[in-house]
Amino acid sequence: MANHKHVRDYIRTIPDFPHEGILFRDVTSLFADPRGLRLAVDQLLAPYAGERIDAVVGLEARGFILGGAVAHQLGTGFVPVRKAGKLPGAVHAQDYELEYGSATVEIHQDALEPGAHVLVVDDLLATGGTAKAGISLIEKLGAQVIGCAFVIDLPELGGRKLLEGMGMDVHTICD
Ligand code: PRP
Ligand code: HPA
Repeated sequence: MANHKHVRDYIRTIPDFPHEGILFRDVTSLFADPRGLRLAVDQLLAPYAGERIDAVVGLEARGFILGGAVAHQLGTGFVPVRKAGKLPGAVHAQDYELEYGSATVEIHQDALEPGAHVLVVDDLLATGGTAKAGISLIEKLGAQVIGCAFVIDLPELGGRKLLEGMGMDVHTICD
């Protein structure tokens, strides 16, 4: 039977997580469904058909699940941008702002070739702070971000505007 469900139909909304008043978009239900996961990966990649992509960078933690599947589909390698203190080799680090306080992400210094064409993948774009920090790490290695692909955009938080203002190509599947 044909599958007429949209990616958004697989995403659960959980009220009051992690704080009262927050409607949390939960992608674990999308990842757990075989058709949902495939649909999400296919739709993340659709705009890049025929484009040169040398590596996929995923942002911890849900970007690892999607990014690994996307890299497998493309036949590229996968490079993680991790929260501070998790990568064992020499790293570059980048701080970014959270709602309360700040955080740091890291990339291995030898993870990407200079000039490599990179696709950045994550589950959700909110303020764009995490993606911006990831992009700056990729660019520190001399690689080039050819696109940033997310399943969910929360447009009121301004992430798309921030990334597009940096000249990034931003692709999202559902608002
Ligand atoms: C969430 C989400 C993105 C980021 C988006 O991850 O998966 O990576 O926040 O927010 P931003 O656009 O405002 O930066 P989170 O930091 O909760 O980490 P986790 O995936 O490790 O739970
Ligand atoms: N879901 C998952 N991650 C998030 C959300 C959300 O609704 N908002 C900010 N990060």
